[in-house]
Amino acid sequence: MKKLEIQLKDNSYTIIIEDGLLSHLCFYLEQVYSNKKIFILTDDIVKNLYLDKVINELKKKYEVDYVVVPNGENSKSIMTYTKVCEEFLNKGIRRNDLLLALGGGVIGDLCGFIAGTIYRGIPYVNVPTTLLSQMDSSIGGKTGIDFADRKNILGVFKQPIMVCIDPKTLDTLNDREMNNGMGELIKHGAIGNRALLMKLKDKPKIDETIIYESLSVKKKVVEKDEFDLKERMTLNFGHTFGHAIELKYGYKHGEAVAIGMLMAVRMGMDLKITDSSCYPELKQILQIYHLPIEEYDYREYLKDTVLDKKNIAGIVHFIFLTHLGECKIYPITESQIKERFYECDN
Ligand code: GLY
Repeated sequence: MKKLEIQLKDNSYTIIIEDGLLSHLCFYLEQVYSNKKIFILTDDIVKNLYLDKVINELKKKYEVDYVVVPNGENSKSIMTYTKVCEEFLNKGIRRNDLLLALGGGVIGDLCGFIAGTIYRGIPYVNVPTTLLSQMDSSIGGKTGIDFADRKNILGVFKQPIMVCIDPKTLDTLNDREMNNGMGELIKHGAIGNRALLMKLKDKPKIDETIIYESLSVKKKVVEKDEFDLKERMTLNFGHTFGHAIELKYGYKHGEAVAIGMLMAVRMGMDLKITDSSCYPELKQILQIYHLPIEEYDYREYLKDTVLDKKNIAGIVHFIFLTHLGECKIYPITESQIKERFYECDN
């Protein structure tokens, strides 16, 4: 068992990483939740895999009810949000009940958003079942839904009261989904833990220790900057370009991040910020996990970054590696981008 404490000003909580954790959730939940009712949100795929097991465990100590939504990004919609809130309200949810997100990133984001808004906020626990959500969205309290054709555009910061990660849930993921999560895990190594990155070259089993080491990188930056105004932006390494690629070509998130990281390394090298050894080393590790390494010209995608929600007041915060395992934030204005990358080209 591995434990990480996320220490925030008002909302500290524990991440438990333990093989077989789904079978003794009550032991941990009792440490943070002493009321009677738990409402689970899950999707139709995870329902078939784990819902009965989780309900049987929780019923030892709690009254349990649940709502199921279709698997997939379409469930992060205002319609699903409304429908799920209605269902929970019809089932009698109250302010002091607990919500439990059982599933991947869509479930975590939607459940967290409901937890942050229903009755102006009720507690929730994340039980992420994909590597991607264990690596990223289940930690740090970013919740939300898609709206007006933009991802995560309606949302709130709402920290869970606990995160329970059972690495055994990874056994049911197919290779592509596992590698999707590896995109974010490799990113953590690239921005903050060179030793982890080197370890990944040997294709280790993704176990409690690897998950712990990867999440330790996220923990550090979330603790410094809960609301994503400074240090936390480093987690967006590979995302500025990655989002543009993801939308355009339909890659999975971690795949797009893989390509986006290589584009950011290229740009960092051109700006003489990133050591040139980063490119072949990172590319080699991405290849080991069958992540895409197609070369896209970052200059063609710079324009798209202007529309990204991370573009605050005409400034794009680029994250560049200096060396593998170290990164820096570089605020670059729109006019600097135009001057450096477009007007000179004409
Ligand atoms: N997914 C990036 C963050 O949590 O800030």
